[in-house]
Amino acid sequence: MKHFTSVHDVPNLETLVQDALALKKAPYQHKTLGENKTLGLIFMNPSLRTRLSTQKAAMNLGMQVMVMNLDKEGWAIETKDGVIMNGTTVEHIKDAAGAMGQYCDIIGLRSFPKLQSREEDYAEEMLTMFKQYAGVPILSLESATRHPLQSLADLMTIRENAPQNKRPKVVLTWAPHIKPIPQCVANSFAEWMGNTDVELVITHPEGYELSEEFTAGASIEYNQDKALADADFVYVKNWSSYQDYGKVLSAGENWMITNEKMALTNNGKVMHCLPVRRGLELSYEVLDGPDSLVMNQAENRLYAAQAVLKSILSDL
Ligand code: CP
Repeated sequence: MKHFTSVHDVPNLETLVQDALALKKAPYQHKTLGENKTLGLIFMNPSLRTRLSTQKAAMNLGMQVMVMNLDKEGWAIETKDGVIMNGTTVEHIKDAAGAMGQYCDIIGLRSFPKLQSREEDYAEEMLTMFKQYAGVPILSLESATRHPLQSLADLMTIRENAPQNKRPKVVLTWAPHIKPIPQCVANSFAEWMGNTDVELVITHPEGYELSEEFTAGASIEYNQDKALADADFVYVKNWSSYQDYGKVLSAGENWMITNEKMALTNNGKVMHCLPVRRGLELSYEVLDGPDSLVMNQAENRLYAAQAVLKSILSDL
């Protein structure tokens, strides 16, 4: 694999999932593959799981890891081409990415959307420029529109917990939140589910439709209770409006997933990428109950990252 920024970069999805599941059983079987190779993890935004799981994944493969919180520790970055830099930005992304490529064999980048301009966010300016100017493979640690490492971990978790002899019904449900949240996780989850053999239903209040670029093959159901009927997996996530870009359109009363809602499902399992707002997106009782898969997802982040790094290292 050259880069990993979406499911479209994956040559064979089934092979990658099987590889990640195999690494979970034997994490150290490729511990010299990354010898004398350096992974740079560049964060423009906060992270707990992505940072630690990707660092650990690289260490399991024998890589050296450097982490930089570029938004706090680096120079203020300019991303617009051709501008006269006589304002607050100090370094152009062309020069910053180019320099980082001199020190790293692979670069991981987390760069969230600003939720001000849909056109700008969906152009994936930062990610695209890193790919263009770093000169080394780029690993998305969550970009303006997608979170593919999370989606791979989610797919592993579904594979491990799917009912026997049944095409799983997976429901992606919008949940309440207090502030505008990017569409990345929901976009990416829908896109990855669309590339595997599940029945995907997406439920949300009207106005929260995701871009059709990501939801091909999914059914949209505005009634959450109807959507939850017979679900095997309930993936809970908030996102802000794509149409009325970056806006919170409703408080989402009665959209929190509770035990009462889960009773509508087929003994369904609950998923969330974390961090989660307890008592707002998901009830404590569900998160702490036997049907919660959130820690399995967090655990699988490590092996998802390891499978992706292994694939990129093998093609260096
Ligand atoms: N799920 C996830 O990406 O977690 P972090 O934001 O903590 O990395």
